[in-house]
Amino acid sequence: MTTEARSTKHEEQRAAKRAAGEAAAQLVADGMRLGLGTGSTTAFAIEAIGRRAREENLNVVGVPTSFAAERLAREHGVPITTLEDLARSEAALSLDLAIDGADEVDPALNLIKGRGAAHTREKIVASLAERFVVLIDPSKEVDQLGTKMPVPVEVLPMAEASVSKALRGLGGEPVLRMGQRKDGPVVSDQGFWIVDARFGAIADPAALAAAISQIPGVLDHGLFIGMATEVFVGEADGSVREKGKG
Ligand code: A5P
Repeated sequence: MTTEARSTKHEEQRAAKRAAGEAAAQLVADGMRLGLGTGSTTAFAIEAIGRRAREENLNVVGVPTSFAAERLAREHGVPITTLEDLARSEAALSLDLAIDGADEVDPALNLIKGRGAAHTREKIVASLAERFVVLIDPSKEVDQLGTKMPVPVEVLPMAEASVSKALRGLGGEPVLRMGQRKDGPVVSDQGFWIVDARFGAIADPAALAAAISQIPGVLDHGLFIGMATEVFVGEADGSVREKGKG
């Protein structure tokens, strides 16, 4: 691919991500408690939510899923809180709407997440939401999870070797994620490491998710099974395709 073609593709992808993010921001209403996901697509949503909150005087609050999301929320003026503070202020700890990106989405709306190493907090926040809306561009749609992306697994550093052995036993090819512009492994917001396990097309994502969760030393993994209620697929022309659980 030429440099020019690459840059056009990048611009089209950005336009698609922006379309999905801005459509998600339209779901926000006064008084909502939000889950704020991580990544380049959700960044467009956080920016648009901040704009709406300012212009329409909306009283909303968001739980960020990473240091990155927290910084973006502050930058765009989205008030933030923690699960602990929410739990103190209401009897039932829940969120009205969580929004987040994904690395792969299958036809049943199961996901692979975690390219940005934020999947553990993302899963906790999404699990508390009445609506979990996933924002993607068309390159993330796959027939079977695992086709393009590995499954990120967050591990206790001392258990990296034993978790990798167990992942190999499940048919995966684990690779410890290394830092860019930092020597050594990527360290998550929790101080854990990330092992990316490539499985190829995953025949039974729910079974694999359960099996990985059982490995001692695993904090959490990037398979999100049956969690997304809707997926917004942004297109380069600014339109958005909405896929629901049916
Ligand atoms: C963060 O760890 C990930 O789960 C992201 O949500 C996911 O990688 C999507 O990111 P982009 O929107 O940047 O593609």
